Order: sequence, then structure tokens, then C-alpha cells
Amino acid sequence: MKNIAVFASGSGSNFQAIIDAVETGELEAEITLLVCDKPGVKAIERAEKHGIPSFVFSPKTYVDKEAFETEILEKLNDAEVDFIALAGYMRLIGPTLLNEFEGKMVNIHPSLLPEFPGKDAIGQALEAGVNETGVTVHYVDNGMDTGPIIEQVAVPVYEDDTQNHVRKRIHEVEHELYPKVLQKLLHPAEVNSN
Ligand code: GAR
Repeated sequence: MKNIAVFASGSGSNFQAIIDAVETGELEAEITLLVCDKPGVKAIERAEKHGIPSFVFSPKTYVDKEAFETEILEKLNDAEVDFIALAGYMRLIGPTLLNEFEGKMVNIHPSLLPEFPGKDAIGQALEAGVNETGVTVHYVDNGMDTGPIIEQVAVPVYEDDTQNHVRKRIHEVEHELYPKVLQKLLHPAEVNSN
């Protein structure tokens, strides 16, 4: 069984989808750590409710990214983590973590990358007036949402849509897609033989 860590900075609805998929057996993995850079957010409650250990920290209490990533790395090693899923972790990953986990760390982003990288991807899409945006799961590299794309799903944008409408549509797609992609990445041979 592979051990995964989920990184989140907010509500953690994607984290919840991963928890649910583990509990139903759709995703064969154990979540051995939540890493969260925002004390007080709902993702932490979700971890507590499901008995998942968490490492919660405030980046501003560290001298730099290397210092907090060094501590994250220790926690990942203690939790024997094999694979990392970023789920709304709103921070660039630095070399301390990338050197250990490149190729074993993925992210979900609410646009059809390379369109609308970075913050507020849904707002960027509405601003651009597109009639389609989407969801991308990609490997993490040292850029802002630039790593190799694994899977993408398109989501329509309608004329009178607000950010909330699009966000809801995107979340529904994300919650279904992310656990499935993680299962494929963690169990590639089984997918091929089916
Ligand atoms: C998700 O929509 C995710 O794609 C996005 O943050 C949201 C987190 O929601 N991530 C990014 O924008 C990364 N650049 P959640 O906390 O409810 O899972």
C-alpha cells in the first residue's frame, strides 16, 4: 500500500474527495499526512475527523521557504510518504521538496493549462470571456503550474455565469477526476491489465 500526503491551504474539498475515495476503496492508498500552511482552515478539521495526522505551520514564522520545507520533509519522512497530492496548496514548491519528490508530486489546477496559471484561475477565465475552461492534473515542477500534464477535463462557461457557478462546476469535476488519476498513478499495472 502506498502512503500519500495531501497539501492544502483552504477548505480542502479535494482533500475530502481523496479521503472518501480511500474510504470506499476506489483509491488504494493510505493518507498518512495532511500538510497545511494556514492554521484554522477547514482542511485541518477534515483531517481530524478522519484520524489523519496533520502538520500545520505558518510560513511567516520561518526565515525562508527552505526552512519550512526542511521541516515538511522531516514530517513526510516520518509519515513514510511515497507520493504527494497538492490540493489547493497555494504556494510554489521549492527545491528542498522537489529534489526528493519530483515525479512523485502532482497538482490539480482549475483551468485548462497552460491557460490561466497561478492564482484566481476561474476569475482569469471569466475575465477573458472564454466559453470553456476546465481542470488539469499535472506533475509539479519548479514553475507556476507548468509541469507535465497528466489529464485534463473541459468545463463549460455560460453567458450569465458568476465565479460561484463556474467554481461549483469545476469542483464537481475535480472531485471525481483527482482520486481516479491518483489511483492510476499509484497502480499503473492494474489499469493496463484491465
Ligand atoms: C481547487 O479548485 C484547486 O484546483 C485550486 O484550489 C481549489 C482548492 O479547493 N488550486 C489552485 O488554484 C492551484 N493553483 P479545495 O480547498 O476545496 O480543494
